[in-house]
Amino acid sequence: MRQSFQASLRNLRVDRLDGLVLHSPYAEDGDTLEAWRAMEALQEQGGVRQLGVSNCYEPARLETLWTKARIKPAVVQNRFYAKTSYDRELRAFCRDHGILYQSFWTLTANPELLARPELVALAETYERSPAQLFFRFLTQRDILCLTGTSSEDHMREDLAIFDFRVSEEDCAVLDALLECPPG
Ligand SMILES: NC(=O)c1ccc[n+]([C@@H]2O[C@H](COP(=O)([O-])OP(=O)(O)OC[C@H]3O[C@@H](n4cnc5c(N)ncnc54)[C@H](OP(=O)(O)O)[C@@H]3O)[C@@H](O)[C@H]2O)c1
Repeated sequence: MRQSFQASLRNLRVDRLDGLVLHSPYAEDGDTLEAWRAMEALQEQGGVRQLGVSNCYEPARLETLWTKARIKPAVVQNRFYAKTSYDRELRAFCRDHGILYQSFWTLTANPELLARPELVALAETYERSPAQLFFRFLTQRDILCLTGTSSEDHMREDLAIFDFRVSEEDCAVLDALLECPPG
């Protein structure tokens, strides 16, 4: 953990990290906790502002970590897709415990959802792309969407989602799509 932390400081050319995220829990909770203790030590030494865990798809696992951690996870960073029912239960745990849920693969894993006529029609109504509408909707559901774009145009589009708001009625339409994903 210390080696990885030092490598990140070097790569990012900083002397402190905003966030340190465990790539995924280990198969055994005891191993996860051992890694977490090392992360806590780095935060206690002032090297990190907040800690997180990624690829954590079992709510029970997150709850165990939460219960045993001295410094609680501030962030969960997960693949956002139908296979895990879009982490509905896990996101509820995050909401109840003040953990920020970050999504990745938000676009990559959901091409069929983004092509659904209901979503495309709503995007047209708001004069936005389906990707923008989806990102905006998810931010209104307290999800921080990461985007891995390498296109300057897409970066601009992704950053421009905060100058409009999806109505609660339309959010409900999109909620329903997440409840009944294609396929
Ligand atoms: N914790 C983990 O295990 C893990 C795993 C994977 C990724 N991540 C992180 O998650 C972040 C997001 O990466 P991701 O791959 O998951 O991102 P993503 O949201 O799935 O986006 C990437 C794809 O979406 C396209 N895209 C982005 N904005 C768009 C827009 N406005 N309209 C249309 N297409 C758009 C990109 O194409 P263009 O390049 O052409 O725009 C690219 O093909 C990254 O920072 C990555 O480091 C974490």
